[in-house]
Parts: sequence; C-alpha cells; structure tokens
Amino acid sequence: MSNMTTNSAPGLILALSKGRIFEDTLPLLAAAGITVLENPETSRKLILPTNDPGVRVLIVRASDVPTYVQHGAADFGVAGKDVLLEHGGEGLYQPIDLRIACCRMSVAVNAGFDYETAVRQGARLRVATKFVNTAREHFASKGVHVDLIKLYGSMELAPLVGLSDAIVDVVSTGGTLRANNLVEVEKIMDISSRLVVNQAALKLKRERLQPILDAFQRASTQQG
Ligand code: ADP
Ligand code: PRP
Ligand code: MG
Repeated sequence: MSNMTTNSAPGLILALSKGRIFEDTLPLLAAAGITVLENPETSRKLILPTNDPGVRVLIVRASDVPTYVQHGAADFGVAGKDVLLEHGGEGLYQPIDLRIACCRMSVAVNAGFDYETAVRQGARLRVATKFVNTAREHFASKGVHVDLIKLYGSMELAPLVGLSDAIVDVVSTGGTLRANNLVEVEKIMDISSRLVVNQAALKLKRERLQPILDAFQRASTQQG
C-alpha cells in the first residue's frame, strides 16, 4: 500500500510549511539539537539542510504536509489539526500535540446577520470554507442544512460580497474578522499543530526518530 512506503533516504526527512509552523517548530528542533541552516523566507530551495547531515527539511504547503508524510516522501511533519481533520489520518501516526500555531475553528457571519434566528428557523445556510469536511460534520451534527462553497483562502471576503451567509475559518486574535466587520458566532473546536509520523518510518527508522520525538515531547510540554 502506498501509505506503507518510506523514502529511501538514509537519514530523516521532516516536512514543514513556511511561516508560523516553520517558525514555531524551530525551538522544538533546537531542543533536539537540530538547527536549520537556511531560511525558507529567503532561500528558493525546497529541501533545506540542517546541522545534522542525517536530517533534512522539506518546505511544502501546509495542507500538503499530511500527503508527504502519508506516502513516506517525508518521515515526519508538523500539521494543524484543521488540516489533519480535512486530510484524514490514514497512514499517519500522531503521537504529539505540539501546542504551537494555536487558534480555533469558528463560524463567522456579517455583523448584521442574525445567525441564531436563521438556525432556529431552519434556514438553509450558504457556508464558504476551506474546511469542507469539518464544516459538513459540524452543521450535520446540529441538524443545520448547508450549501458548502469550497474556497482556498480569504474566506472573510465571502460574506462581504454575498457569496455566502457564513464562513468557517480559523480565528486567533479575531483581528481579521473585526477588520472585515464579521462576528464570530460559534466556536467549533480548538486547534493546534501535531507531529505526524509515517507509520512505516516509525518502525524502520525508530532508532533515529525516537530521540527527536522525545525532545519534541519535552519541549512542547514545557511550552504549554
Ligand atoms: P496556510 O498557508 O495554509 O494558511 P498557515 O501557515 O497560515 O498556512 O497555517 C498553518 C496552520 O497554522 C493552520 O493549519 C492552522 O492550524 C494554524 N493557523 C492558521 N492561522 C492561524 C493564526 N492566525 N494563528 C495561529 N495559528 C494559525
Ligand atoms: C489566518 C486565517 C485568518 C486569520 C485569523 O490567516 O485564515 O484569516 O489568520 O487570525 P486572526 O484572528 O489573528 O486575525 P493567515 O494569517 O494565515 O493568512 P493567509 O492564510 O491568508 O495567508
Ligand atoms: Mg494561513
């Protein structure tokens, strides 16, 4: 099965996305004695060396991390719970909540839209989101009928231009919602990033992986 393959690299390959996940993973790597030698914000390289010749870092899109790890193209990676719920956990071992990139998944609407009444009256809601599986499950569990509109970003725009009645997106400070005159009407779940490990790599490369997993576990516990 494809999810039981593993890359043939002698060392370990870690998949990270640029931005907050990369930045927040650096201290965890440092706890394992690993320093990334190039900055993905300035380098055009997609495979970054570290001070440990046995560890390399792949720079991929946040939503692609589970795919690289599931197929064994990376041995392990860091991905948000939001991304993991959309992807599904097949072929992935998820041993550690790293407590980084913390936010929440919420429903938001235009400031003037009476969400509670619409839900109570059984209105059919148009919901724009990148997280269609999570949104479908959430509204189904409430018995709310929705038409889901799949977007790939800038969800906050959809209610402003009448594309949708509501959005499901991640919220942290609430600044983006406020800037666009939207209000958070329902929290679906808390979100943080998890370490994900390819199941075959966990068996075949356990000796190399385990000390890093232990260091990540210690560092993330201290952080929380
Ligand atoms: P993308 O390019 O897919 O938006 P991000 O780097 O913005 O990638 O997000 C990576 C992960 O960080 C998300 O999957 C989510 O778990 C978390 N996240 C997203 N936005 C925020 C935020 N504003 N504050 C904290 N964590 C966030
Ligand atoms: C994320 C998310 C929201 C915003 C929420 O966007 O998609 O738009 O953060 O954070 P806040 O509540 O603190 O404003 P991000 O900054 O990742 O931008 P991008 O994904 O559109 O690049
Ligand atoms: Mg983002």
